[in-house]
Amino acid sequence: MNNPKPILSFIALFFCFGMIVAQEPKTIPQVEELLQKMTLDEKIGQLNLLTPGGGIATGSVVSKNVETKIKAGQVGGLFGISGPEKMKKAQDLAIKNSHLKIPLLFGSDVIHGYKTTFPIPLGLSCSWDMKLIETLARIAATEATADGINWNFSPMMDIARDPRWGRIAEGAGEDPYLGSAIARAMIKGYQGDNLADPKTMLACVKHLALYGASEAGRDYNSVDMGKVKMFNQYLPPYHAAVDAGVASAMTSFNDIDGIPASGNKWLITDLLRERWGFQGFVVSDYTSVNEMIAHGLGDLQAVSALAVKAGLDMDMVGEGFLTTLKKSVQEGKVSEGEITQACRRILEAKYKLGLFEDPYRYINTKRPATDILNETHRKTAREAAARSFVLLKNHNAALPIQKNAKIALIGPLANNKNNMLGTWAPTGNPQLSVPVLEGFKNVAPNAIITYAKGANISDNPELAKKVNVFGPRIEIDERSSETLLKEALEAAQKSDVIIAVVGEATEMSGEAASRTDISIPDSQKKLIRALVETGKPLVLVLMSGRPLTIPEEFALPVSILQVWHPGVEAGNAIADVVFGDYNPSGKLTATWPRNVGQIPIYHSMKHTGRPTESVEFQKFKSNYLDVPNSPLLPFGYGLSYTTFEYSDLEIDKKEIGQGESVVVNVTLKNTGDFDGEEVVQLYLRDVVRSITPPQKTLKGFKKVFLKSGETKTIPLILNPDDLKFYNNQLEFVSEPGEFEVFVGGSSTTEMKQGFTLK
Ligand code: BGC
Repeated sequence: MNNPKPILSFIALFFCFGMIVAQEPKTIPQVEELLQKMTLDEKIGQLNLLTPGGGIATGSVVSKNVETKIKAGQVGGLFGISGPEKMKKAQDLAIKNSHLKIPLLFGSDVIHGYKTTFPIPLGLSCSWDMKLIETLARIAATEATADGINWNFSPMMDIARDPRWGRIAEGAGEDPYLGSAIARAMIKGYQGDNLADPKTMLACVKHLALYGASEAGRDYNSVDMGKVKMFNQYLPPYHAAVDAGVASAMTSFNDIDGIPASGNKWLITDLLRERWGFQGFVVSDYTSVNEMIAHGLGDLQAVSALAVKAGLDMDMVGEGFLTTLKKSVQEGKVSEGEITQACRRILEAKYKLGLFEDPYRYINTKRPATDILNETHRKTAREAAARSFVLLKNHNAALPIQKNAKIALIGPLANNKNNMLGTWAPTGNPQLSVPVLEGFKNVAPNAIITYAKGANISDNPELAKKVNVFGPRIEIDERSSETLLKEALEAAQKSDVIIAVVGEATEMSGEAASRTDISIPDSQKKLIRALVETGKPLVLVLMSGRPLTIPEEFALPVSILQVWHPGVEAGNAIADVVFGDYNPSGKLTATWPRNVGQIPIYHSMKHTGRPTESVEFQKFKSNYLDVPNSPLLPFGYGLSYTTFEYSDLEIDKKEIGQGESVVVNVTLKNTGDFDGEEVVQLYLRDVVRSITPPQKTLKGFKKVFLKSGETKTIPLILNPDDLKFYNNQLEFVSEPGEFEVFVGGSSTTEMKQGFTLK
């Protein structure tokens, strides 16, 4: 009798072996050859990333003696400089003077556009438009590489559920499913299909990991999170970036389970490289290796050794690697092999960029003139901004405004170039941005517009000092607040409609810009109240880098258009929406709380053992005495000038097996008078499972355009992975049982259908 077992075990062995071989990173012969020639000092030199200053400042430490160090082969890359001339000078130092002539990497923070600044990432995520996000990343890559940059410290993929944290502005909001989709789109846009193409650059997913969960929303603070929450809610966007082939990753400032990310072996080696199969190199954040001293982990030599042994390859600015690693090798605390491995990964990145073939590949003095801030890029920036706006309220359908209206354009952000670009736009030039007043005149030349500042962004000189580090963001007027208000009220009296552009200055969010009170500053609140009293229709154009707490303003008879910080084309884009040339289609990607006491608040919260069934307070239930559990504005929320009606939600199968997909169909009708787009959202509830499920969680979306009166059937697919979660053992599984599918225009949709997984 034939015994099939030996054949089967042979096949199993073959596959097993095949898998092991497939996971082994392929070495690059040229890199290996170079490594053979390198001394220990030269290898350590490659791990050193410096910022020479005098260009773009993104931290408080500036590197010294950079030229000498480059010539001595002690620098692997630079950031914070731009322009082909400067890059050429720096590259010459490495190529013409250093022993092995290893080219430098040139990094930069191109967070939302290079010189053509797009809306802040949080705003952009509200477009839910992946094609657009990819296009913007592509443009950013074209512009940045034209200026010599070949490595971008983006995308920032930190899930943020605490709007007190200023860096919520830089990411994609609260949701891991949406965040993952955005990670894929941005990496494709930056890296393209071929890194050696001089118009693509290395992407860098950051900040690994959990940086957005800093306690109390205070920047650089500790993080304490269980693994189940980590794996299900916070890690997926970073993981998606790895799956999308991101070339590098940056560690975060915070600790994870007591070990700062830059020295965390579990994070960098076990999770990122071994579990996820990441093949690129890992860079620390700005001096985050040295900061482990303040964290309490030892002296510079100890923390540098900890970092390199954890799997960190490159040390940003701190120079702990440069100054201590050799000693650690001599003392047997670090092996030369560990340093060779880190160096190998950096050289491989340089090889993939084509820098060994041509170190000047990205340095072309002709490119900036055609590739940077050209008309096409600005046009796309304008469209992107309009698509990022979220209409929060449209009282008496005040919007859109007639193009020949008499308008009082009021507010400290109404004619203000300094605050249009938003945080983390160090390569942009605020003076090239279009303020709202100018945009109104461009789009509605027949409107009669009276402008008045009305109030300062804030009357607090202390706050002004803190946020004016990169330029005058809060300018306190010489005139008194009474005079400013009087002028605004006079303008209001002459008008048919008031448009007040209010909110945060750009540097009121971003890095080291946490706030415990996230309401509109008092000076502007007073202005808004006074404008409401005139009885004229009032539209608030609200700018901010985060969700704000606006319960008072929301209750007033006003309309509110949330525009974040819209970028270089701010004024034109706002005018396009205010005057109806573009019908707003954005939806919130982070929940807006009623007050800071509700934070953290997000759509995928758990049921608890004592859920509330009504909005009324219930004793011995999970609720508050002073406010309902619900947020002021939920995730996924946003209005349009038209209305949409959902009906006929259907699932193609009532029962499926493991590994099968389901198709969900819903009918969408544009029931209003405007053509418009809707973000159709799909949420899933896993009714019973081995760990407590969220009430519902985003698992699909599609942005669709419908003409007024038009009806379409929208198919959405739930793939087998969409039913999976990380269980208590951190295995990615789906469990048999009942699922409920919710479809609608926000996370509060009640329209649902069920199916069973066998
Ligand atoms: C930020 C990073 C940034 C780096 C370099 C740090 O302060 O946290 O996001 O990439 O500076 O500019």
